Amino acid sequence: MSLTAAVVTLSDKGAAGEREDKSGAIIKEMLTDAGYDVKEVVLLPDEFGKIKSCLYGFADRRINLVLTTGGTGFSPRDVTPEATSAVSSRKAPGISEAIRWHSLQITGRAMLSRGVSVICDETLIVNLPGSPKAVRESLEFILPHLKHGIEILTNQTGECGGN
Ligand code: MTE
Repeated sequence: MSLTAAVVTLSDKGAAGEREDKSGAIIKEMLTDAGYDVKEVVLLPDEFGKIKSCLYGFADRRINLVLTTGGTGFSPRDVTPEATSAVSSRKAPGISEAIRWHSLQITGRAMLSRGVSVICDETLIVNLPGSPKAVRESLEFILPHLKHGIEILTNQTGECGGN
C-alpha cells in the first residue's frame, strides 16, 4: 500500500491569488514520482493559527507525510517553523539538518531557512523553503530517505538494513 502525503504552501500572495503556487505543484509531482499518494495540496496565508489547524487536521487523518513550503525565512510574516513546532510531539532535526547541509553546498543563503521537521502522532511534517528551486534542491536530497523513517514510525518495518 502506498504512503499518503499532503502538501501545504504558505504564501500570503499565493493565498490572495496574486502569485501562482509553482512550489506546491513541484512537490506534488516529486512525491507522486516517488510513489506517494498525494491526498491534498493546500494553499494558506502565513497565519500561525491556520497553519497549526491544517497540520493537526492532516495528523488526525493519519496522513503519513506532510511537506510544507514557504514561510521559513526572516520576514515577520514567516511563521511556518513556529506553527509546525506547535504541533510537534517529537522533533526530527536530522531532516532539516540534511536539507541545510545539502543546500549550503549550492547557496550560502540556505542558512536563512529556519525550517524544522517534527513528528505529530504518526505524521512526519517537514518544512521546505519557498522557492521552486529550493524545493527541488531540498527534496532531491531528502526524499529517498523519508520512506524508511515513516515505515518505522507507523510500524510497517523494524528493519534498518541497507541505505
Ligand atoms: N535552499 C536551497 N536549497 N536553495 C535556495 O535557493 N534559498 C534560501 C533558503 N534556502 C534557498 C534555500 C533563501 S534565499 C531564503 S530567504 C530561505 O530559504 C527562506 O525561504 P522562505 O522564506 O521562502 O521559506
